Amino acid sequence: MTLRIVPLSEALGAEVTGPDWAQPLDSRTVAALEAAFLEFHLLCLRSETLTSLAFLGLARQLGTPQTQLIAEGRQADAPEVSRLETTYRSMADKPDDMRSVRLSGWHTDDSYFPVPAKATLLQSLAIPDSGGQTRFANMQTAYRDLPEEMKARIEGLRAVHRYDTRRAKAPPIELTREEEAETQEAVHPLARRHEDTGETAIYFNANRTDRIVGMSAAESDSLLDQLDRHTIQPKYQYHHTWRVGDILIWDNRCLIHSVNMDFPVGQRRIHQRILLAGAAPAHTKAP
Ligand SMILES: [Fe+2]
Repeated sequence: MTLRIVPLSEALGAEVTGPDWAQPLDSRTVAALEAAFLEFHLLCLRSETLTSLAFLGLARQLGTPQTQLIAEGRQADAPEVSRLETTYRSMADKPDDMRSVRLSGWHTDDSYFPVPAKATLLQSLAIPDSGGQTRFANMQTAYRDLPEEMKARIEGLRAVHRYDTRRAKAPPIELTREEEAETQEAVHPLARRHEDTGETAIYFNANRTDRIVGMSAAESDSLLDQLDRHTIQPKYQYHHTWRVGDILIWDNRCLIHSVNMDFPVGQRRIHQRILLAGAAPAHTKAP
């Protein structure tokens, strides 16, 4: 089977074609995918739409799927697979200002947990005619470009991540009492070392990072605002225009993402998602 891996942008990402993703992969293909994942941080597997069981079968060859916080979208035959629908059903659902939609905010999945998911697999099942891209930014390159004094300043700092924060531009969906009980504050290093490559990334989540431990609110906000502006510069970004069936798998340890929520009312936008278990984030050096 020929595996073809082609970069998608200067910033990050590669397209992968060749295999039938519904079938078991041979060990050489899995090894090549793992190497490409570490090199490009995001892979786009071009595919037909998969059943939730086939999607889960693929994910199991790449890591350990875990059930997701929001119970509502979980599939009965495969609870690790969640179905996410972002369709605007009526004009009243779509705001004029996209910043008021939570998914428009830059984030990394799951960072309100002490052990966040290492990777996300997302497959499109239905897409609108225009808009709806998922945008990604490379936090390793953003870290590498920081002035040395800023690298020294954030070294060893820890930040508090919460399901919601006063800093977020839009509120999240409401949790059930059981879901809320599962989301306590988590504290993570601001400069995060990648477990597999040793590279450092800025680990910042505009929707979830609340404050830096040991700093006044004003000082913390000022530093987080500065990092926010730095990390979302266009040169660090790749915007994915979905085709039906595309499977993206991205590395939450070194990428942030957001959604262009500007797409036509009434056109369906549906994905299925799997999170792969990770490890507790580590500092670049011992704090
Ligand atoms: Fe996300």
